[in-house]
Amino acid sequence: AANRTFSIIKPDATRRNITGAVTKMLEEAGLRVIASKRIQMTREQAEGFYAVHKERPFFGELVSFMISGPVVVQVLEGENAMQRNRDIMGATNPANADAGTIRKELAESIEANTVHGSDSDENAEIEIAYFFKPEEIVG
Ligand code: CMP
Repeated sequence: AANRTFSIIKPDATRRNITGAVTKMLEEAGLRVIASKRIQMTREQAEGFYAVHKERPFFGELVSFMISGPVVVQVLEGENAMQRNRDIMGATNPANADAGTIRKELAESIEANTVHGSDSDENAEIEIAYFFKPEEIVG
């Protein structure tokens, strides 16, 4: 498995000023932040990022939420990074997430669920390249 994955700290977290708390949980799970930037996504950028979900009924709301405030995009490094990140994030719906996960401890709802994480090594590569130039990643 690859040792890099991609993460977004979502607008519900920047709004509540808990990006540090989220990052602390990632670090304590054995992940290292090797690239990070706070951005305001444009609608076009969010639609492109979530293009795989464009036929879903929640697509419009998802895009509106993701551009409702700043996000922090990150590249995370660690052994088995994609799975490690998914484990510490917890289930998409915080109601179903295990205790000790970011979404159980911090998320507000299935939409305002605090973090995004790549769901495969292949998507991690695509998502990293969507937001970062190679020279912005310092491992
Ligand atoms: P994420 O990992 O960012 O990828 C797609 C997002 O869609 C997901 O996290 C959720 O925040 C969101 N999502 C998934 N299912 C629903 C739903 N039923 N209603 C609203 N948002 C959803």
